[in-house]
Amino acid sequence: MTNKYKPPQILIDAQGRVFIIPQTGAVCEIEGIGVVDTGKLQDMAPGSSVKIAGKEFTLLRASVLDILASMKRGPQIITPKDSIQIVGWCAIGPGDRVLEIGTGSGALTIMLAYYVGQQGKVITYEENTKNAEIARQNLKHSGLGDRVEIREQNALGHLPETEFDAAVMDIPQPWDLLDEVIRILRVSGYTCAYVPTMNQVEGTIRAMRDVGFAETKAVENIQREIVVGKGGTRPSFDMLGHTGYLCFGRRIK
Ligand SMILES: C[S@@+](CC[C@H](N)C(=O)[O-])C[C@H]1O[C@@H](n2cnc3c(N)ncnc32)[C@H](O)[C@@H]1O
Repeated sequence: MTNKYKPPQILIDAQGRVFIIPQTGAVCEIEGIGVVDTGKLQDMAPGSSVKIAGKEFTLLRASVLDILASMKRGPQIITPKDSIQIVGWCAIGPGDRVLEIGTGSGALTIMLAYYVGQQGKVITYEENTKNAEIARQNLKHSGLGDRVEIREQNALGHLPETEFDAAVMDIPQPWDLLDEVIRILRVSGYTCAYVPTMNQVEGTIRAMRDVGFAETKAVENIQREIVVGKGGTRPSFDMLGHTGYLCFGRRIK
């Protein structure tokens, strides 16, 4: 029997602002709240009301989305709008070993670590020391760090010899690594490259076909929130116009 994942807790104030509570059990200063005895919160049930410095909060168990919303930003992250698609279309699930190239701030890493579960593993490559440190802090904060190994180096020419269930990339030139990626991917496994421009989509998909990936496809995921009001339900005026394109391929032999 393995330890069950214990997510961090959050406090939500009357305005709906969310504050992540460090799992240290110590007394600490939390920006926007003040001094909090986190040890006292640890045994409280989700849904409890908490009064700190005269203000009311509701205590909840953090979802992976709360963790991602509160993480420290370094390089541009892949948001849940796209990372959920990556996990789904790469068929990533409990127990999987996933290779990631381009850890960056660690947002996709956290999503991958959440989905591979307690028995799974994410091996992630980051060549920039500063970004690797940001990702390390974010992973520690998430409580999922024990499922992740950060390799602080350029992935080119340094991929492991072992087999992976899926491989994901968020780097400017994924085509440079595709012949190595197909080698470490188990037959039946998927790869995904996240790229911000159409030129990169073309370069990536054509290179995927060249090295032998099947089922190649590129998709853009556009989401509009619906604002619900009595008799006036309509799409939100605010929309995130463009994030990135998702390029998929599958190793079939
Ligand atoms: C846009 S960021 C990744 C963001 C990440 N997907 C997230 O959601 O937080 C791209 C990262 O890839 C790293 N990188 C680029 N090429 C690399 C390579 N060949 N090997 C390892 N890291 C690489 C960069 O240093 C940068 O931190």
